[in-house]
Amino acid sequence: MRATYKTFFVFYVLISNVFVNAFEPFSTTFVVGLAAVWRKLYNYVHNESCQSKWIAFNSTGLEVALDQKLIGQHVASRVIQKAVTGFMNDKNPKKPLVLSLHGCSGTGKNFVTQLIAENIYKEGMASSFVHHFESQVHFPHPSQIENYKSQLQQWVKGNVTNCPRSMFIFDEMDKMHPGLIDCIKPYLEYYEYLDRVSYRQAIFIFLSNAGRQDITQVALDFWKAGRDREEIQLHDLEPALSLSVFNNKNSGLWHSSLIEKNLVDFFIPFLPLEYRHVLLCGMAEMSAKGLEPDQDVVDKMAREFVFFPKGEKIFSIQGCKTINARLFLHIGRV
Ligand SMILES: *[C@@H]1O[C@H](CO)[C@@H](O)[C@H](O)[C@H]1NC(C)=O
Repeated sequence: MRATYKTFFVFYVLISNVFVNAFEPFSTTFVVGLAAVWRKLYNYVHNESCQSKWIAFNSTGLEVALDQKLIGQHVASRVIQKAVTGFMNDKNPKKPLVLSLHGCSGTGKNFVTQLIAENIYKEGMASSFVHHFESQVHFPHPSQIENYKSQLQQWVKGNVTNCPRSMFIFDEMDKMHPGLIDCIKPYLEYYEYLDRVSYRQAIFIFLSNAGRQDITQVALDFWKAGRDREEIQLHDLEPALSLSVFNNKNSGLWHSSLIEKNLVDFFIPFLPLEYRHVLLCGMAEMSAKGLEPDQDVVDKMAREFVFFPKGEKIFSIQGCKTINARLFLHIGRV
């Protein structure tokens, strides 16, 4: 029996590495998804259960992870630390925790959800209590919307019934059908019980690009004024995450009803990343691969990234996305 597990595990490690390397250029989300499905199978064999052996909040762990691993996001880091710790330490929360993460791609929104999951669930993103939905993967056909709605409601209800401390991540909210958002609204409310189920221990995280232009503008204004990026405060970014921004049709109407009803507890802005952050991502990625971080290699790689706005060229268009694949090209070349 033990040998079987071992083979299973080795196979898993091999497969997940191959996947990660092969698919990086397409979508990290996709790879994380694949690896997670595989881990879920593995966990099923290992009997992960909704108990403190598998679910225990590590407040220090989260603080250290946000501090050391999340690059260039001092505002998001602080708000998330406060929000998650406050909620997890509350024995009697009045509603589920609802976070809405905003910013350009590659700025760490997905990564942060991973850090949160890792410090609540022993199995992290692979936990069977963590659910990741991506509109184009899970709800691709607009004509099927009615089916998706009832399916999603069943999933949320079924999973929270199984384990009150469940986490639901909705990726690419801006591409999601507004009807789907409406159908999960009841679960985000202040009800003590809804159909005999309490959702108050659950965590909902929404990821989107909405508001990114306005967030970038704030960062750019600071830069032009010669001010330190670290001086940017949450209140400087709040107008960028206001109702008027969400109500313009490019960023989607989806948010307005959530905002009007105050169902989102925290709107969390992710700043666009600069050259020096891409360097840091590269260095971190090298050590994560077990390599000696090499400034020259990382520098060469970072110079291939495209920066905007056209004149100033300050922010990386893709943030730190695709670093993994690009790094490989360069390591091969040295
Ligand atoms: C829990 O959610 C998953 C999707 O992440 C779904 O496949 C599964 O059927 C749900 N479980 C229940 C009991 O509804």
